[in-house]
Amino acid sequence: MSPKDLPKVELHLHLEGAAPPSFIRGLAAEKKMDISGIFDEKGGYAFKDFWHFLKVYEAATSVLQTPDDYRRLTLAVLEESAASGVIYTEIFISPDFCGGRDLPAWRDHLAAIQDAAAEAERGLGIVMRGIVTPIRHFGPDKAREAAICAAETAGEFIVGLGLGGDEKICKPKDFAWSFDCAREAGLRLTCHAGEWDGPQSVREAVRDLGVERIGHGVRAIEDLALVDELAERGIVLEVCPGSNLALGLYPGWRKHPISELHRRGVKVTVSTDDPPFFHTTMVREYDRLAEAFDWDEGVFEELARTAAEAAFCDAATKANILKRLEKKDA
Ligand code: ADE
Ligand code: ZN
Repeated sequence: MSPKDLPKVELHLHLEGAAPPSFIRGLAAEKKMDISGIFDEKGGYAFKDFWHFLKVYEAATSVLQTPDDYRRLTLAVLEESAASGVIYTEIFISPDFCGGRDLPAWRDHLAAIQDAAAEAERGLGIVMRGIVTPIRHFGPDKAREAAICAAETAGEFIVGLGLGGDEKICKPKDFAWSFDCAREAGLRLTCHAGEWDGPQSVREAVRDLGVERIGHGVRAIEDLALVDELAERGIVLEVCPGSNLALGLYPGWRKHPISELHRRGVKVTVSTDDPPFFHTTMVREYDRLAEAFDWDEGVFEELARTAAEAAFCDAATKANILKRLEKKDA
């Protein structure tokens, strides 16, 4: 079976970051907004470094203004994921962009996203769940408002709280109120760490926020005692190798630490983060990893099982996904 046909589980995908540039350009034209400065001559997103990426991302997101914009975006994103063989996806949604952290607006936007998810599940068989994701560099106060949106809509569809954005701004403990609020509402927890900041940021996210998964976490490799601890505690890393390469964190696929983390017993999974920004898809990630590390189908099956077991959905949905993985029913 080729990587394209293997059923996949993706745990780390930003809804706004998965918006194809053509989709964003189309919405900008409909709304007569000029965001032409964020595109390169080929029509892709243009950015110089991580901070600039975050700014381009925010400019692109500025055209997503109504529940219907989010309904159309969700359908487009799920179609693309299903075409890569993804059968279950957990998608980060940021109330900062989606409804402006206003609870009634958030509910309206979320209803439209859920409609699209139900339509995609009926038509394409892909199952989606949402993880509410405040933006770290917007600060802890705004994160609280986003966490309240998460807590108020926690349930079958909204299953977790995450934290994205610039890791160098604030400490994990500054967001403890938001993570406590989400935990009390029954949500499961993940946090971006160990991408731009070092291993200590991973330790702090686990210790101070009590997360069970880490977004990226790859810089844990710089501290082997931490690697052992992650392996022992079964903390799952949502690794996005193509994203790390596109943003210049590692110079090439063979230099990426995912293989070493896996070899040392850490539960690693593979995701695309913001695929159109990084010119990637789940199929491309699988192809490049197979090439770089000589990974065979068995390794990819193990990674997909690890991801399904680490999913934040209810037990019946998880059992169904695990069964589809067993049957290789993409
Ligand atoms: N938001 C979207 N993509 C991100 C990334 N790679 N790191 C931090 N925040 C993000
Ligand atoms: Zn991310």
